[in-house]
Amino acid sequence: MRLDSELHKAILNNIPDQAWLKDKDSHYILVNDAFMAACGLREPEILRRSPADVWAGDWGRQYERTDLEVVRSGARARYEEIRCGHDGVLRWFDTIKTPIRDASGAVVGTAGISRDITDRKRSEQALARLNRLYAMRSKTNQVIAQIADATQLLYRFCRIAVQAGGFRLACVHRFEGGQASRASFAASAALRERFDASAGALAWRGDAHRVYVCRDIARATRCKPQARAAQALGMTGFAALPLTRGGRTVAVCLLFAKDPELFSADVVRLLRALSSDLSFALDALGEAEMRRQAEDDLRASRGQLRELSAYLQSVREEERTRIARELHDELGQSLTALRLGLSVIETQAARGNDDWRRELQGLKDIADNTVDAVQRLATDLRPALLDELGLGPAIEWLAESLGERSALQCDVTLPTEPVEIGAALSTGVFRIVQEALTNVARHGQASRVAVSLHVTRRTLHLSIEDNGRGMENAPSCGRKRLGLLGMRERALMLGGRLTVTSAPGAGTRVAAELPFAAGEGD
Ligand SMILES: Nc1ncnc2c1ncn2[C@@H]1O[C@H](COP(=O)(O)OP(=O)(O)OP(=O)(O)O)[C@@H](O)[C@H]1O
Ligand SMILES: [Mg+2]
Repeated sequence: MRLDSELHKAILNNIPDQAWLKDKDSHYILVNDAFMAACGLREPEILRRSPADVWAGDWGRQYERTDLEVVRSGARARYEEIRCGHDGVLRWFDTIKTPIRDASGAVVGTAGISRDITDRKRSEQALARLNRLYAMRSKTNQVIAQIADATQLLYRFCRIAVQAGGFRLACVHRFEGGQASRASFAASAALRERFDASAGALAWRGDAHRVYVCRDIARATRCKPQARAAQALGMTGFAALPLTRGGRTVAVCLLFAKDPELFSADVVRLLRALSSDLSFALDALGEAEMRRQAEDDLRASRGQLRELSAYLQSVREEERTRIARELHDELGQSLTALRLGLSVIETQAARGNDDWRRELQGLKDIADNTVDAVQRLATDLRPALLDELGLGPAIEWLAESLGERSALQCDVTLPTEPVEIGAALSTGVFRIVQEALTNVARHGQASRVAVSLHVTRRTLHLSIEDNGRGMENAPSCGRKRLGLLGMRERALMLGGRLTVTSAPGAGTRVAAELPFAAGEGD
């Protein structure tokens, strides 16, 4: 190829971009000053050499291939490429290679020009990152509008951060309700598994409202266990977004990236906005959840009340049936026997027969038994002891009769001084002790039970504590169980409260505190 070298060089040097001419074998014929500055070589070290002699690594071979392709096809080639200059900095270039033809039209070489577009590329990338973050924010806000559950919302946020925001790994740690929990999402299942296996619990003592950004993960000062785990998986930086509810930090979301550029000032501003979007949503959900909880509680207590009144109704029916049976079987029979006996005496007396005196003794026995039966019935309905002797002895009577019916040892501790308690309160206490002792005998598998009653100036303290098998906090509700519920309701109706403390294997304690004014009566 024949060239008017000086002329061409003058033209090439007028171009601010790197420019060169090569022969058809990809050897440099002419290069301009910008080219020499980029590769850091002088003209004699470049001319008649191939690209592999000028550019390090794979770049040289790659340029030779594209040159030869332009010569073979006779078509112009244009591409964007990243190349490392002699200063070691990676830069973007827009390169054009054009075939040079002789008078007959045959390709005799190539002319090339390469423009540094690094700044443009950087701003394009920054723009793309920002666009991803805007998309992430808008998707998060869509999800906020749709989802009514905080756990689900935070998990979806992690997913959006990875799928739309360009983060490789996202996890959220929650500390609400005294319990810590974690949800995470990653660009791949394997990445997530490896992170979850090594990340550990998060200790967060950071400012409640400040997003923490760490661009060099090796120097993280917060969330260190998570930063170490993520660093081992190739992450280079992360942001920690504290999420608040009612001003308290209730969760922290960690967003990890491989690309250190991902935490530009604009991106961090968007992350701050996202953190307050989510905190706002958590506040709103908190209120909704509390409202739902209150409604559920109300529904449950209405249900319990319905069950309780149905129970009381059925207990009343049972009592009536039992009393009717007792009246029929015991009193009916006895009174009939008395009536018959009296008729016999009447007949015998009329005949002047003296046998009626013997008959009289039999009738007295029947009358005594009838009195006993009446007393038994009355005691079942309301223990006579309660009226006659007061609450303490009535409780002792309960304990004794429990001891007689079972192998349970029942210890009773009562106030040393007799206490004046009104009828409503003493019946309530009596019934609570009665139900609690029945439960111990039926369910407790206990060897001992202690009943204790003591009074302070304003309160009556009652406890029934056994050493039996105890129970789960929430007894299974397959069958309607109303003993505990009834005890609670009684305590509530008396203006006090009743608590049941129990754990499997650790016995059960029923304790009631009931307001009481000394000398009260009704
Ligand atoms: N002292 C106790 N020790 C162990 N378990 C108990 C004790 N007291 C109550 N429980 C458990 O709590 C459950 C609820 O007791 P609750 O008195 O409400 O119902 P219940 O005794 O089963 O039936 P009822 O309605 O006839 O009283 C019982 O079924 C039992 O499993
Ligand atoms: Mg019971």
